Amino acid sequence: MTKIDLQREAAKAMEKAYSPYSHFKVGAAILTEAGNIYAGCNVENISYGLTICAERNAIVQAVAAEGPGMKLKEVVVTNHNEAGASDACSPCGACRQFMIEFSDKDTKVTYPGENGDIVTTANNLLPDSFRF
Ligand code: THU
Repeated sequence: MTKIDLQREAAKAMEKAYSPYSHFKVGAAILTEAGNIYAGCNVENISYGLTICAERNAIVQAVAAEGPGMKLKEVVVTNHNEAGASDACSPCGACRQFMIEFSDKDTKVTYPGENGDIVTTANNLLPDSFRF
């Protein structure tokens, strides 16, 4: 699976975003260790706190399809700000913790920075994540 495939799937999902409150569309695509791709978009709610981010949407779909053993190999995030501001968008804290749950030390994460894509790992995005 190439980076292009994941970028394309993330962009396709982003177009489906339900974001009437923020006007900020986000798409995420993931490649699982099993070799499958899943994608998700953000889904907002009039009760703002209920909003689901694109990354968690994609991961939930992967678990629903592959079961509890699902592992993330790679995550790609893309976005589009309809207000015309920067398209930079790093995964929120909740999504970082959610990614860690299904990641290993090599799970790659790519997202749009101010000067092009940032490529890192889930571990780097949330060192010392919550655990008990
Ligand atoms: N959002 C995501 O989809 N992923 C993130 O990691 C952070 C934020 C969404 C939630 C909301 O619909 C919009 O971006 C603006 O916060």
